[in-house]
Amino acid sequence: MIREIVQVGDPVLRKKCEKVTRFDGELAALLDDMKETLKAAEGAGLAAPQVGIPIRAVVVDVDEGYFEFINPVFVWQKGEQTGAEGCLSVRGKAGTVTRPEKVRIVFQDRKGDRYALVARGFFARAVCHELDHLDGILYTDKAKNVRDAD
Ligand code: CO
Repeated sequence: MIREIVQVGDPVLRKKCEKVTRFDGELAALLDDMKETLKAAEGAGLAAPQVGIPIRAVVVDVDEGYFEFINPVFVWQKGEQTGAEGCLSVRGKAGTVTRPEKVRIVFQDRKGDRYALVARGFFARAVCHELDHLDGILYTDKAKNVRDAD
């Protein structure tokens, strides 16, 4: 089911999200909906608070594939990249943000199994953007020049 994407100004986007502790059917249904919502919006990533649920779960869809990260945590961040970014919760805008070039995260999947992953380039940018959402941070807080998107 496609869910409504919350827009900037809604306080749920500013919450520090809760850790996921139950890896049940409700979580699976939420993730399925987030995947469908992300695909329909043609975005690179979506965090649970963006559909109004303040828990630590994000989905990312990039050239490397589709990923679900539950309770993701950075292990390290390396280098620097500067580029354009947008957000499905800040419609019609884009901004230039500096992010790490390469990150390593640990996370759980929808069953609760633990994994680690290294992302670089745009994948790393998407991971950083989505993890920020879990702490109530929007890219516009970090962007140099938020402008109307082309
Ligand atoms: Co976003």
